[in-house]
Amino acid sequence: MLDLDPDTLLTTTRAVRKRLDFDRPVSRELIRECLEVAFQAPNGGNMNNWRWIVIDDSSLIAKVAEIYNGGLDDYIETMADTGGYPGAVVPGADLIGDSVEHLRKHFHRLPAVLLPVFAGRLEEANVFFQASSWGSITQSVWSFMLALRARGLGSAWTTGHLWREQEMAKLLEIPAHYTQVGLFPIAYTVGTDFKPAYRKPSAEVIGWNGFS
Ligand SMILES: Cc1cc2nc3c(=O)[nH]c(=O)nc-3n(C[C@H](O)[C@H](O)[C@H](O)COP(=O)(O)O)c2cc1C
Repeated sequence: MLDLDPDTLLTTTRAVRKRLDFDRPVSRELIRECLEVAFQAPNGGNMNNWRWIVIDDSSLIAKVAEIYNGGLDDYIETMADTGGYPGAVVPGADLIGDSVEHLRKHFHRLPAVLLPVFAGRLEEANVFFQASSWGSITQSVWSFMLALRARGLGSAWTTGHLWREQEMAKLLEIPAHYTQVGLFPIAYTVGTDFKPAYRKPSAEVIGWNGFS
C-alpha cells in the first residue's frame, strides 16, 4: 500500500494512459481486493444491482480493444461532423489527445480490463431513475480506481466503446436489460508519483444559496 493521506489519494488519482505498465501481470486476488473496497460505496436501496465483468484473457482483451477503438472511431467521426470536441478549451486539453492515442494503440496489451454493468435500461427513464441508476454505480467505480491507485496501479475512466455497446454485449454475453458503464484498464503504473490536475477555479463553479 502506498503511503498517501486521504486528500492526496483523492486529488492525485488520474486518468492514467501513458504510464500504464502493459507488461506487468496483475493478480486476480488484487483485482478482487480492489473490487471488494469498491462494493462498499453507497448504492440506492443497497440493491447491489450490478455485475462486475473482469476480462483477463488476452485473446478476449484483444477483441475488447477492437471494439473500444471502433467506438472511438465512431465518436471522432461524429464529432468531426459537429465541429469538434466541446471540452477543448481547458488548459492541457491539447495533451489529452496524445495520451488517448497511446491507450488506444496499446489497449490490447492491458493485463486486465473491468466492465461494470447495472440492471435496467435508461433510454425511456425519467431523471429520478437515471440519477438513481448512475448514482448507484459511479461511486463504486471511482472507489475501485482509488483502491488501485493506493496499491500502485492505475486506470482511466473510458466510455468510448459505448458507441458500440451492443457489439460488446454480444462478445461478453451481457443480457439485454443491463447497461454498460464503461471500460476501465487495470495495470500497474510506471512510478507512483501523480499530481493534482487543472480544474476550473472554485469561485467559477460554486454557487452559494443559489445557482449564481
Ligand atoms: C465519463 C468519462 C468518460 C471518459 N471517456 C474516456 C475515453 O473514452 N477514453 C479516454 O482515454 N479517456 C476517457 N476519459 C478520461 C478523461 O479524459 C480524463 O478523466 C480527463 O481528461 C481528466 O483527467 P484526470 O482524470 O487525470 O484529471 C473519460 C472520463 C470520464 C469521467
